[in-house]
Amino acid sequence: MQPHELVYGLGLQLLSFAQRGKKKVVRVNADPKVDTGDSHAPVPFYVTTAGVGILVDTARYATFYFGDARPKPEQAISSVSSANPDPAYTHNLEDAAAAQVTIEVPRTRGVDVYLFAGPTMLDAVRRYNVFSGGGHLPPEWGLGFWYRCDARSTEDSALALARSFRERKIPCDVLGLEPGWQTHAYSCTFVWEKERFPDPARFLAQAKHSNYRVNLWEHAFTHPASPLFPPLQKKSADYGVWGGLVPDFADPAARQIFGNYHGTQLIDLGVSGFKLDECDNSDFTGGWSFPETSRFPSGLDGEQMHSLFGLQYQKTIWDQFLSREQATYNLVRSSGALAAPYPFVLYSDLYGHRDFIRALVNSGFSGLSWCPEVRDAVSVEDLLRRLQSVVFSPLAMVNGWYIKSPPWHQLNRELNNSGQQMEDWENVEAQCREIIGWRMSLVPYLLSAFHRYRLDGTPPFRAMILDYPSDPTLQKVDDQYMIGDRMMVAPMFAGEPSRSVVIPAGESWHDFWTGKAIPGGSVLKLDAAHDKIPVFVKSGSIVPWADVGLHAEAPEGKRISARLYGDASRTFTMGDSPDTLHLDGNHSHSTIHSPRYTVYEWKQIG
Ligand code: GAL
Repeated sequence: MQPHELVYGLGLQLLSFAQRGKKKVVRVNADPKVDTGDSHAPVPFYVTTAGVGILVDTARYATFYFGDARPKPEQAISSVSSANPDPAYTHNLEDAAAAQVTIEVPRTRGVDVYLFAGPTMLDAVRRYNVFSGGGHLPPEWGLGFWYRCDARSTEDSALALARSFRERKIPCDVLGLEPGWQTHAYSCTFVWEKERFPDPARFLAQAKHSNYRVNLWEHAFTHPASPLFPPLQKKSADYGVWGGLVPDFADPAARQIFGNYHGTQLIDLGVSGFKLDECDNSDFTGGWSFPETSRFPSGLDGEQMHSLFGLQYQKTIWDQFLSREQATYNLVRSSGALAAPYPFVLYSDLYGHRDFIRALVNSGFSGLSWCPEVRDAVSVEDLLRRLQSVVFSPLAMVNGWYIKSPPWHQLNRELNNSGQQMEDWENVEAQCREIIGWRMSLVPYLLSAFHRYRLDGTPPFRAMILDYPSDPTLQKVDDQYMIGDRMMVAPMFAGEPSRSVVIPAGESWHDFWTGKAIPGGSVLKLDAAHDKIPVFVKSGSIVPWADVGLHAEAPEGKRISARLYGDASRTFTMGDSPDTLHLDGNHSHSTIHSPRYTVYEWKQIG
């Protein structure tokens, strides 16, 4: 490493951002408590400000020493002045003249190392994503709003909730069912619980009739009462988890058995996708996963399988949608290398709002997608701030798996479950409705960012340093991020009196909401009275802002207000097909190319 060269990546790191000077182990763990490299989705890939990316192709828990392994001193010296210590022994590693990266890959006889050349760090990330197969492109409905129902839901209660969203004008595209849809969960049978869901086909048809997709929770550990148990018995690990089998997803035959069942029994019935839970190991929760010493019939051991389990599980499910040529968008708790094409978004049981934003910022270095989901909240401010963040993320979701009513009825988990609504819940609901509406308005812009992800690997959500690699003020910024090519988001955190936002130098910006011009190279201080989430756009931007429909495919979502900032010289293009939106403010308004969208106004915002 050169002097001042900085290192980023290693997958979904929740606890740190710039990695130079650190030692990290890429170990799969659902409870990263300390900043040692543990993650739901560690990836043995990193990029540096020198404009290179390095992928170490291993499923071992490799250790990366990013300049913290130091050369041995060669010469004795006669004395050292304590007032002026030798700079070689200070700990300011980032300023060290030069350093090396050392990577230890245990229990292996050799690995392939891939070098992705820039010239910029963002180019190295793009090449890595394109090498992976290109980024995924979610269906429109996947970019709408998701709500995961209480785990005790029944057909009737889930449909009643769906109806209430429509009646109360809360946009929603996807209803998620949690463990209670199955006869047994932990481990799973993958069979509908008939008391709660007496007629799954009817339930799915009714949901579809109201333009809802249904997503099913599960994990892979297969209960002895599952129809999948007999065919998987010999195709699974020598250890079990929660009394179920651990399928050997490295064996194509096992993937086929598991996948086919999902395809014919669930996808063909109308299920739009899955939430693949608990595939990420945990060392801190007893009996939670299989040990590293496990053996799988394919020849992998438990350590290798932990690194690959999330990916192979995704592949097992995604193959079923691919063979049906059916678009899908899903959730998963673990992932790994080369995952950009997989239509799966990561989430976590941890709940630190700041850590969730750092995860979002870090995810873009390694081809991952992340959802900072909302559950309960300690205050109305906390609920609103979290909701604001999640609607500016790859997947906008409230996960109500342990609360009976949506959190805007009652924030507190116990009170929520005992049926007590907050006094001013309608007011809180109205604010949430508005925020969810922003998400619906943003869908065309998000689609354009994901189109680019698919075509050239540009992460739709990414750290500021990727776009401004030589700006020293952005090297440590892990709480602001870019969406697409022209939008920057800086979430606010409840309880914090203010936050500063670094406005990148070199171009001028506007406040997205008010249009106020902001010079590049400045630092804004925003106090907690700032009720909207701070969003900024580059001067010259055209941003499509759709009307709010009750689901993403509703006609309102095709009616666009074109928001113009500055001279509107930054043409907006969505994707590569002539069927999509193209807005050119510089020429005349008549250059809108789209049979699907109408632009009903061109609004100069700032
Ligand atoms: C957790 C998961 C939660 C919820 C829960 C249900 O592992 O992260 O979102 O699905 O399981 O038991």
